[in-house]
Amino acid sequence: MIIKTKVTAAGLHAAVLISAFQACKLPFAHSQGIVSTWPLYLTNSTLDPNATRSATNFAQYYGIASFGSPAQNFTLQIDTATNWLWVPSSQCPTEACITHRQYNANQSSTAVQFVDYEVEALYASSTDFADGYLVQDTFSVGSPPVIIQNQGFGSMTNVSVDQITQSEDGVMGLAPMQSIFDTSNLNVTQFDPFFSMVIEGLLDKPQFSLWLNPNITDVNAGEVVFGGVNAARHTAPLKQLAANSSALYWQTELQGITVAGKPLKGLQANAAFFDSGSAQTAVPVNDFKLINEAVAALGFNLTFDSDNDVYTIPCESAVSDNLPSIGFTMNGTTYSIPPSAWITSLGESSENDTEYGSICESSIVPTSYSIASLDSGHDGASYPIILGQM
Ligand SMILES: *[C@@H]1O[C@H](CO)[C@@H](O)[C@H](O)[C@H]1NC(C)=O
Ligand SMILES: *[C@@H]1O[C@H](CO)[C@@H](O)[C@H](O)[C@H]1NC(C)=O
Ligand SMILES: *[C@@H]1O[C@H](CO)[C@@H](O)[C@H](O)[C@H]1NC(C)=O
Ligand SMILES: *[C@@H]1O[C@H](CO)[C@@H](O)[C@H](O)[C@H]1NC(C)=O
Ligand SMILES: *[C@@H]1O[C@H](CO)[C@@H](O)[C@H](O)[C@H]1NC(C)=O
Ligand SMILES: *[C@@H]1O[C@H](CO)[C@@H](O)[C@H](O)[C@H]1NC(C)=O
Ligand SMILES: *[C@@H]1O[C@H](CO)[C@@H](O)[C@H](O)[C@H]1NC(C)=O
Ligand SMILES: *[C@@H]1O[C@H](CO)[C@@H](O)[C@H](O)[C@H]1NC(C)=O
Ligand SMILES: *[C@@H]1O[C@H](CO)[C@@H](O)[C@H](O)[C@H]1NC(C)=O
Ligand SMILES: *[C@@H]1O[C@H](CO)[C@@H](O)[C@H](O)[C@H]1NC(C)=O
Ligand SMILES: *[C@@H]1O[C@H](CO)[C@@H](O)[C@H](O)[C@H]1NC(C)=O
Repeated sequence: MIIKTKVTAAGLHAAVLISAFQACKLPFAHSQGIVSTWPLYLTNSTLDPNATRSATNFAQYYGIASFGSPAQNFTLQIDTATNWLWVPSSQCPTEACITHRQYNANQSSTAVQFVDYEVEALYASSTDFADGYLVQDTFSVGSPPVIIQNQGFGSMTNVSVDQITQSEDGVMGLAPMQSIFDTSNLNVTQFDPFFSMVIEGLLDKPQFSLWLNPNITDVNAGEVVFGGVNAARHTAPLKQLAANSSALYWQTELQGITVAGKPLKGLQANAAFFDSGSAQTAVPVNDFKLINEAVAALGFNLTFDSDNDVYTIPCESAVSDNLPSIGFTMNGTTYSIPPSAWITSLGESSENDTEYGSICESSIVPTSYSIASLDSGHDGASYPIILGQM
């Protein structure tokens, strides 16, 4: 899901890799055997991969993909926590649409429009939405291109005002396929392009891998590989985390959380899912207090700001002090997140905010919105945390 924050690069220093996911329980044939690389960027809307990156706009990763014949290009945010694929429609009058590229089905010889078929994408922020109509068209992504002939997606005619500030045109969801839109009576492949690739036998392996470049000054902000793993981007051997097949997300068991290597007691969270669309890590309120208070108890000036429901620390001390790492234990391994990744500068201004003694905040935030509302399968027994881009 997309969680917008005032984010700087801080969260990106740690090279946390989401390893290749197995697409479970799907028919699989690698008839075309494609392994395709999709470069990612971190900047505001532009098709120029050389564009200068803005320090205040590091929150989201996007790639460039095209719809239709001839190709209409769009920047798509990659979101591992939803499975919606949508772009603004040329028929959308809202400001969020007209400030972005708009898909025109009439200019594509391969488009099939389902004008009676309304679709809606909802996000974690309750005011974020995109409404529109189902379209089927050719979708091309990556290099060498993976071409899906009849990909279903949303051509959105009303996109919420919140999306004006999103630099990307649309969203490409990569979450596990669960039927959010019931297209069973239509001859349209499901919304999630990754699963379309798997079902249509385009890929070499039923996997995708995501790499986020820890070097934020590099124009190559990361990549998605469809059909395999780029060994050069990962430290072998890859570790496996079993995905919960009943969850809507790439969710796995969370065995514990550590602060400075010490396991916390009394945690509520027992699962975690990976969200490339979030710059923060959202945890149950109980755990939000436990984690941040455990850091404060070590003598750091991390204090609760009740107005904003976050823990803050003067950036000066965040830089000079030796803040602890926070670890997330999954399948026996503790993945340690250094302070440079879980402390975020609040500043709008420069990349050097931390040097100006302004206020920094902890990226461990409370789940202030309802996960249950997004996950109809949620039975109250599981308390997943949302692991953001840290
Ligand atoms: C990006 O920069 C490289 C190196 O300067 C150049 O070769 C390439 O043509 C540029 N690409 C675009 C789209 O401007
Ligand atoms: C669309 O993107 C592709 C791949 O980046 C590029 O080759 C092509 O020139 C772009 N087309 C337009 C119209 O921008
Ligand atoms: C496509 O053309 C038809 C007929 O001119 C028009 O009614 C419709 O609104 C157009 N659709 C788009 C997406 O522009
Ligand atoms: C878009 O949706 C909002 C919220 O439902 C509504 O107030 C607005 O009138 C809609 N705009 C258009 C152009 O349909
Ligand atoms: C893109 O970045 C430029 C320069 O930093 C800025 O002026 C512009 O408002 C940004 N656009 C969006 C849509 O964020
Ligand atoms: C579904 O569409 C594909 C091409 O998009 C076509 O090859 C196939 O025959 C269609 N199936 C049905 C049942 O109409
Ligand atoms: C980060 O990327 C920049 C631009 O490509 C490069 O000049 C620099 O050496 C890289 N830093 C590291 C630590 O690799
Ligand atoms: C733990 O990792 C092993 C392989 O190292 C894998 O077979 C197993 O499914 C994983 N279990 C969980 C619960 O993630
Ligand atoms: C798997 O996910 C479902 C749905 O969210 C949840 O009810 C269940 O407790 C989860 N199972 C495990 C082992 O985490
Ligand atoms: C802790 O930081 C706050 C600002 O976040 C500051 O007002 C306070 O004086 C600091 N306390 C100590 C003991 O340094
Ligand atoms: C940030 O700090 C670096 C190193 O001190 C400096 O080179 C750079 O110009 C600074 N950037 C801004 C926007 O002040």
